[in-house]
Amino acid sequence: MLTFALSKGRLAEKIFKFLKDLNICDISIKDSDRRLIVESEDGRFRFLLAKPSDVPTFVEHGICDLGVVGKDTILEENRDITEVLDLGFGKCRMCVCAPQDNLDGYKAKSIVKVATKYPSIAKRYFESIHQDSIVTKLNGSVELGPITGLSDVIVDIVESGRTLKENGLEVAATIHELSARLVANNASIKTKYDEINDIIKGFKSLL
Ligand code: PRP
Repeated sequence: MLTFALSKGRLAEKIFKFLKDLNICDISIKDSDRRLIVESEDGRFRFLLAKPSDVPTFVEHGICDLGVVGKDTILEENRDITEVLDLGFGKCRMCVCAPQDNLDGYKAKSIVKVATKYPSIAKRYFESIHQDSIVTKLNGSVELGPITGLSDVIVDIVESGRTLKENGLEVAATIHELSARLVANNASIKTKYDEINDIIKGFKSLL
C-alpha cells in the first residue's frame, strides 16, 4: 500500500481531480472537510488530508510515502524529502513586494523590515542578497504590513497580482517560481521503487 499526504486548501481540488483522472481514488472536496484519512476502493492507496505545511513533515517521517504540496511549502519547511515531479498546476511566484510609489526604496535600507507568512524563505532571500532584515511572521493579509508601517516590504505568493494591485503594492523582485510538486520519502523511493515509479508515470501522462 502507498500512503499519500495531500494538501487541503488551495491545491486540493486540482489534486483530487488528478487522482480521479488516474482512476486512483475519487475524493470529494466535501469529504475532505471532515475526513482526515481516505482509502481507495481497491485498498492500494491511503490518503492523509493534512494542512499544507504539515505535508512535508508526514513525508519526512515516513508516515507517508508520497505527498502533494506547493513548492512554497517545500521551501519554507525545508524538510529532508525528495521532490520527484513538478505537477504544473497551482502556478504562482514567491516575490518581494513593495509600495508602487517606492518600489526600490527598501534596497537602500540598512535593515529592511519584512512581513510574511514565509519567514524562512524571507530570511534566506535577504541573506542571499546580503541585506540585513527583520522578519515579522503574519498568518495572512500580509499586504497590511507596508500599508500600516509594520514593514517596508512583504514576501508573499503572487498569483493574479490582484491583491497587490488593490493594496497599492507591486512586485519588486521574484524569489522563486512555484507550483504543486510530488514529493517522496527518501526510504520509500528505494523500498517501493516500482509502485512510486508507476505513480510518477501516471502523473506524467496527465501533464
Ligand atoms: C494569498 C497570498 C496573497 C494572494 C495572492 O493569500 O498571500 O495575499 O493569495 O493572490 P493573487 O495574486 O491572485 O491576488 P490567501 O488568499 O491565501 O489569503 P491570506 O492572505 O489570508 O493568507
